[in-house]
Amino acid sequence: MKLLSLLSLLEVALAGRDNCYKYLGVSKSEATKKIKSAYRKLAAKMHPDKNPDDPEATQKFQDLAWCHDVLTDEKKKKKYDRGGEKAINEDNGAEDFEGFGGMFGGMFGGMFGGQQREEIRKGDLVLVPLIVTLEELYNGAFIDMTRTKRSYREAPGQRDCNCRVEMRQKRMGMGQFQIFQEQVCDKCPNMKLISDDEDLEIEIERGMDHGHTIDYFGEGEPKLDGEPGDLQIVLRLVKHKLFERSGHDLYTNLTISLEDALTGFETTIKHLDGHVVTVKRSDITWSGFRMRIKNEGMPVLEDNTKFGSMIVTIDVQFPKKSLSAEQKKVISEILNQSDVQPDFYNGIKYPKMRV
Ligand SMILES: *[C@@H]1O[C@H](CO)[C@@H](O)[C@H](O)[C@H]1NC(C)=O
Ligand SMILES: *[C@@H]1O[C@H](CO)[C@@H](O)[C@H](O)[C@H]1NC(C)=O
Repeated sequence: MKLLSLLSLLEVALAGRDNCYKYLGVSKSEATKKIKSAYRKLAAKMHPDKNPDDPEATQKFQDLAWCHDVLTDEKKKKKYDRGGEKAINEDNGAEDFEGFGGMFGGMFGGMFGGQQREEIRKGDLVLVPLIVTLEELYNGAFIDMTRTKRSYREAPGQRDCNCRVEMRQKRMGMGQFQIFQEQVCDKCPNMKLISDDEDLEIEIERGMDHGHTIDYFGEGEPKLDGEPGDLQIVLRLVKHKLFERSGHDLYTNLTISLEDALTGFETTIKHLDGHVVTVKRSDITWSGFRMRIKNEGMPVLEDNTKFGSMIVTIDVQFPKKSLSAEQKKVISEILNQSDVQPDFYNGIKYPKMRV
């Protein structure tokens, strides 16, 4: 009975593993980097926590993790390319599958609101801030990071584990039994906590923002007789010299001369990937004037073909020197603003936004 259910479980488990390349959406020749990146994106989407209505969510996620595990290991990948999942299972036997199932299968046990599932003890979540520049968020980047990862390794000796209380009965005499509780434990190898330096390659995708989190399942704090917690990278954006980001938009300030404000101007700004954006106006520009340049903002994370706007707020630098009586007369004639008289008002008149 037990064997039967295990076998059928195996069958279900392996059904989604025939076509890992298709599953991950990568080609056979794709570099490990790309496979890892594809996996991470899919894993975030397919995580059982995010798909509580799909009864097969855990299975799908395990298949995905299996594919990632195989395709990012050179030896396993070669085998898989030759003989599919059968080749992997033949060589590694049940042991690897067990190890794998244990690693990924139990990982979410504790998160299912306890429905039917046994509570799996899980290690703590590890939060790691990662400083990123606006250039990295605009262009995308791979950042190598070394961190100290703690995990348990077997050590000499044994310890009690999986302890539970069981009911026993003892025959006292004719038809008389005594029922009592007894704590029983298994013997497990001793474990010791070790620290290893681990290299993590973190992919910054175009359009990510300050505060964005990237999850690495099972990379957090270890747990004795449980599953390791998750690792979460939190992006921290450093201030940029020219741009302030707000949503998909990039804000920048531009100072122009009064002369340019009156006669028009044309200038350029170097964007975050080095391309040049022209900013120009032929009409009069006043201080506080805002120009919106479409598609020159940040790329949209969900769709990199879309961009926000660049919003340039202009301030006008007035000349400091005094004008002669003659110059004043000429300017008055040109400007001809006698219709506008000094006018006090309460509040701030926001300059009109122009596209
Ligand atoms: C533009 O100037 C305003 C006012 O001085 C300032 O608050 C804002 O941070 C500036 N924007 C940028 C992108 O530096
Ligand atoms: C100056 O402005 C007034 C209206 O404010 C207008 O009637 C007049 O023609 C203008 N003069 C010149 C020289 O443009």
